[in-house]
Amino acid sequence: MKVTFETPQGELVEAEAAEGDVLLTVAQDAGMPLEGTCEGQMACSTCHVIVERDWFAALPDASEEEEDMLDLAYGVRPTSRLACQIVLEEELDGLTVAIPAEARDMSEG
Ligand code: FES
Repeated sequence: MKVTFETPQGELVEAEAAEGDVLLTVAQDAGMPLEGTCEGQMACSTCHVIVERDWFAALPDASEEEEDMLDLAYGVRPTSRLACQIVLEEELDGLTVAIPAEARDMSEG
């Protein structure tokens, strides 16, 4: 399956992914500048991505913890998610997300 990342510069980067992969890892492997400082503990929000509107509804709902962390992320949009919480399933083949221009690391206060 494939996922597409839109860089802060507007460049589209396609990446190969497997079912069960975490979106954050796929993004990092594709060279996207997502720090993911807390490695999926929902404590940093540096893995914030903006999901393309058509895809947003296809994702499982965010947990309350994820919503809380997104409240603290910089430049949050209505379709923002934490990439460390998105596990790729077959239905998400073709998923497209944008990497925000700036990230703020909440784990560094
Ligand atoms: Fe820290 Fe996702 S990696 S919240």
